[in-house]
Amino acid sequence: MKKSVLVTGARENTTGFAIAKRFAEEGYDVFITSRHAESAQAAAEKITAITGRFAKGYALSAFDEGDVKTVFEDIRANGYLLDTLVCNAANLGIRQDTLTVDIKDFMDVINTNVGWNFMLARAAALQMKEKGGGAVVFINSNTAYRAIPSRCAYSASKGGMLAMSRALALDLGKYNIRSNCVLPGMIKTERWENNYNDCRNAPSNFTPLGDIASFEDIANAAWYLGSDQSRNTTGAELVVDGGNMIQLYPIIPEK
Ligand SMILES: NC(=O)c1ccc[n+]([C@@H]2O[C@H](COP(=O)([O-])OP(=O)(O)OC[C@H]3O[C@@H](n4cnc5c(N)ncnc54)[C@H](OP(=O)(O)O)[C@@H]3O)[C@@H](O)[C@H]2O)c1
Repeated sequence: MKKSVLVTGARENTTGFAIAKRFAEEGYDVFITSRHAESAQAAAEKITAITGRFAKGYALSAFDEGDVKTVFEDIRANGYLLDTLVCNAANLGIRQDTLTVDIKDFMDVINTNVGWNFMLARAAALQMKEKGGGAVVFINSNTAYRAIPSRCAYSASKGGMLAMSRALALDLGKYNIRSNCVLPGMIKTERWENNYNDCRNAPSNFTPLGDIASFEDIANAAWYLGSDQSRNTTGAELVVDGGNMIQLYPIIPEK
């Protein structure tokens, strides 16, 4: 049967797109989501143009389980039972001052990054169980372990995601369904490219390896954990942060 992957938050020029492209290059057919239908469709067409694989985009926003079910019903209607789910989309919860953040904004981050991803993982697991196995990969963050300023909800959501991934690994192992996390540090996103000076000076840029992750670095890790390459690995974490997290503090050159 055909191999397929669903990657959330995978419009062009993003981490998610690189992950979807990597799976397509390995022979998977690809389903991707964005909150915007046109972005999802454009990304799917690009994947097909680059790799020749079937690809389809869906508009999907947190936090409606009905919408999630509709996507999975359509995947089935297209003749697929999903092999791999990569939960990449995230509410980044940037600049949420701890003493003043509106609790609704705080909970939006938790609901998206934990609740919505649970809905996706459960819907995927139902198809994977029917197929005889599968893999869920959560694109997490090293902020699950190390705090950064004004990101309380984001850190809490990523810590919750780690625990959820282990719990899923435990409950779903008997169906040959694996659940694992990739923990990036800083990634060279458009935000990094467009804000080069600030990001260049961010302490998280000063890693033992002297570099931060490219989209492809994250895609390689997602491919490993989401494919049979890691068939005996579940409930695990793969940190992709240039060694950022092992430091007590970053060594920032004087100049
Ligand atoms: N960038 C970093 O330095 C970094 C570091 C550590 C971990 N990460 C993790 O790596 C993953 C990718 O990060 P990124 O920086 O590349 O992220 P991003 O592009 O800013 O976000 C990923 C995608 O998530 C979707 N999204 C954003 N807010 C959303 C919301 N409230 N509800 C539903 N979807 C939403 C967006 O897709 P649409 O706009 O197309 O809907 C976006 O393209 C995330 O899980 C992030 O937490 C990133």
